[in-house]
Amino acid sequence: MKTIDELLSEGVAGKRVFVRADLNVPLDGTTITDDGRIRAVLPTVKALAEAGARVIVASHLGRPKGAPDPAFSLAPAAARLGELLGADVAFATDTVGDSAQGVVAGLADGQVAVVENLRFNAGETSKDDAERAAFADRLAALADVYVGDGFGAVHRKHASVYDLPARLPHYAGHLIATEVGVLKKLTDDVRRPYVVALGGAKVSDKLAVIDQLLAKADRLLIGGGMAYTFLKAKGYEVGISLLQEDQIPAVTEYLERAEKSGVEIVLPVDVLVASEFPDLKTKAPAHPTTVAADAIPADQEGLDIGPETRKLYASKLADAATVFWNGPMGVFEHPDYAEGTKAVAQALVDSKGFTVVGGGDSAAAVRTLGFDETAFGHISTGGGASLEYLEGKTLPGLAALED
Ligand code: 3PG
Repeated sequence: MKTIDELLSEGVAGKRVFVRADLNVPLDGTTITDDGRIRAVLPTVKALAEAGARVIVASHLGRPKGAPDPAFSLAPAAARLGELLGADVAFATDTVGDSAQGVVAGLADGQVAVVENLRFNAGETSKDDAERAAFADRLAALADVYVGDGFGAVHRKHASVYDLPARLPHYAGHLIATEVGVLKKLTDDVRRPYVVALGGAKVSDKLAVIDQLLAKADRLLIGGGMAYTFLKAKGYEVGISLLQEDQIPAVTEYLERAEKSGVEIVLPVDVLVASEFPDLKTKAPAHPTTVAADAIPADQEGLDIGPETRKLYASKLADAATVFWNGPMGVFEHPDYAEGTKAVAQALVDSKGFTVVGGGDSAAAVRTLGFDETAFGHISTGGGASLEYLEGKTLPGLAALED
């Protein structure tokens, strides 16, 4: 994989460089609630601009249906990028149309533009190769060089991620190079004990990675909504907690396999329960109670790991040489259910090992709960992408940069 360093040493002054970023930031209306993904691409954008390139930044935002939708405009992200760069950033109100062509033609050396959401075009996400190719041709016409730096989207076989690099000289940006370097430390030559904390709502999203980790990790700590399917598989009643009945056979098989292979799967010993899901808007007090994991009342649902589990998980993380964490331990968006996620984040902060936070909700949780990002070994910008990497899958966006 050629990296941006090679591109910079070859010289980029005056060249139109297309940077496929992942500016898929969470928005409240037009307010960005976590700009981590914009900051993550800054080193690449800055380096190119300083070297005199004409930088075209492109990204998706959310999942619009292949047509313009103002709710998913990249305008707020473009404005924030400009603030962080301390420079004017031009904004094209379409992706490959008159506005984009005009904006790109007007770029001077060292200037940066953002084009509108790639997914406003059906060709970006199309399953039809020809439709994607036609859109990739139009994107290619905007630029001379491609830099892939949208790590959070490399698991998508989309036009700007997969088809476009084949049409232009292509390089990995600083972010992708860093992310891949970190993930290699979790797959090749891992320092042990290797402890993985997995949370989040659905066990089905994590089955493939658990399958792989059973052969790689020493210990798996399970929290979040997915924990209740594990507890049920152990024969406990889980009340009205989130449950994926159809996943119980797979989970049972994992518990058996872990036992045979000596991998420790650690489940909650106590949980916070309530009869209702909390109001995340008003954040009105939820008054949860703490119960043992095998005593969840029939009319209550588990919404966070309990205090004994917090201590247990912290102790299971304490001696780790390598930690990967993906997925919150509870409904951390509500203060009454944030302690489990905080405890795991704090255990990573306290760890002397190499700690990786695996993107998406866990990365946002770390920031919104007020942790110092530099206290972690690495905070990945890609949740799905990092999980699929750990599953051992070929990621289209990385494969395209290899060729
Ligand atoms: C993400 O948020 O995980 C990436 O930006 C990819 O988004 P997607 O799941 O909508 O493809």
